[in-house]
Amino acid sequence: MTVLPIVSVGDPVLRERAREVTPEELRSPRTQQLIDDMIETMRAAGGAGLAANQVGALLRIFVVEISGNPRYPYKPEVPLTVAVNPAIEPLDDETAAINEGCLSVPGLRGEVDRHVRVRVRRLDRDGAPRDETRLGLTAGTFQHELDHLDGVLFLDRVRDPRTFTTWEQFERHHRDAFVARAEALTARVGS
Ligand code: NI
Repeated sequence: MTVLPIVSVGDPVLRERAREVTPEELRSPRTQQLIDDMIETMRAAGGAGLAANQVGALLRIFVVEISGNPRYPYKPEVPLTVAVNPAIEPLDDETAAINEGCLSVPGLRGEVDRHVRVRVRRLDRDGAPRDETRLGLTAGTFQHELDHLDGVLFLDRVRDPRTFTTWEQFERHHRDAFVARAEALTARVGS
């Protein structure tokens, strides 16, 4: 497995819509290698998720894994998930303001409204269909990754630009209040 370079905001590949993966393509050693490399890259960067656009590949694939994540210690654990050709459907109208960051937007965080209950349909890396409910912060993570495949960054969804902070200022001034809100959300809706 190889740790790939992660592209940052300004690279046009982050603004393009990734295309669907065909069954043959998914089975190919090349795509399987890409998935392995994305997992390795996400882990090396300490990310909660990574979308193919972020390593310059315009295929509808993202990976998510959260296990004692140092960037987001308040996020509930999520086992390694490979999502191919994913679709996300809100299960109701409720949203929550979630403070997000992104490996492709180094240094910046901001508050984004995300649906708190979503249905995620995807293929796994073997092409088997999966249908799951994701809740709270985890639902937010999946929406963030799906956005990447549509050329959308969390920056675009920040409703109030005054919520932008550096990671350092987040730690200093905003972390405690946000973590209290995040933990209350997890306790109320699950993950
Ligand atoms: Ni991101």
